[in-house]
Amino acid sequence: MPESWLASVPGVREHEPLEPHSWYGIGGRARYFLELADDATLPALAARLNTDRQPYLVIGAATNTLFAAPELPGLTVKLVTRRLSIAEETVSVSAGYLMPKLAAETAKAGQAGLEFGAGVPGTVGGSVFGNAGAFGGEVKDRLRSVDAIDERGQRRTVSAAECRFGYRDSVFKAEHDRWVILSATFATNREPPAQVRARMLEVQKHRRATQPIEQRSLGSTFKNPPGDSAGRLIDAAGLKGMRIGGAQISPKHANFIVNLDGASADDVLALMAEMRNRVFERFGIELEPEVRVIGRTPSG
Ligand code: EPU
Repeated sequence: MPESWLASVPGVREHEPLEPHSWYGIGGRARYFLELADDATLPALAARLNTDRQPYLVIGAATNTLFAAPELPGLTVKLVTRRLSIAEETVSVSAGYLMPKLAAETAKAGQAGLEFGAGVPGTVGGSVFGNAGAFGGEVKDRLRSVDAIDERGQRRTVSAAECRFGYRDSVFKAEHDRWVILSATFATNREPPAQVRARMLEVQKHRRATQPIEQRSLGSTFKNPPGDSAGRLIDAAGLKGMRIGGAQISPKHANFIVNLDGASADDVLALMAEMRNRVFERFGIELEPEVRVIGRTPSG
């Protein structure tokens, strides 16, 4: 087979192991892989990928993503852009920036409203994509607009209303999964830094008390069904502590699957199937995955 043009894109690596790029420590390989600290070349690249009908996936810290394929076809782009600008009650930040760092920096600058980010262990791009939230705050509360590239490689500014945020949902997740989120602008308000920081520390404290943050996990495995909690249901089905291979349903919080020791994607998927089946048998409720499984369907 002739070598793809992707092989000659500056910086591209071939057959890249994804495990080091996965917060969870699980991954196959990426056929072509590109890490970008600068997104200036992305519009032209996205346009060409789409014209050429190449598969591609954009990742950030991969804290909510399970790589379940032996090798991802096409190009995997890891965005590590780290731009942050804080003006009068407006914060603009690139997609590759980490949410806990955003929370810390805005607190230091006396800009309130993004403290919840301390409880979201992912990038800004991933958090916008999934309208991430924790401890009373979520992306949609403060988001003003998103800069993105559409499938033709055109830059677009998407307003908060056009993002159509829902519970762990956005227009990017529901409809435009071939768009690339480049940056986001948030509205903040001025407050003494010590006050903002105190609330941020509360978020961290609450998270440490209720979630297994000292272990590797993908965060909440399933979305909460309307009016209930996936963690409560899995716990009530008696599954806390259950182990398959190197993966375990956290004894601390039943909606977290931790990678105890060299877990494989199969171990995690088998536990997810068990959780869904047992909760369905016991309560007649179908849990819907919150984690993004790439390369396999997460059905039970
Ligand atoms: N519960 C149990 N057993 C458990 C875990 C929880 O009975 O093993 C009960 C708790 O006692 C509580 C209820 O279930 O009454 C809800 O639990 P918790 O307060 O821990 O919140 P959650 O609904 O499980 C959600 C988000 C988290 C976010 C926390 C804090 C979802 C799916 N999860 O968890 O988000 O950090 O609230 O705001 O919406 C994530 O999305 O990855 C994530 C971690």
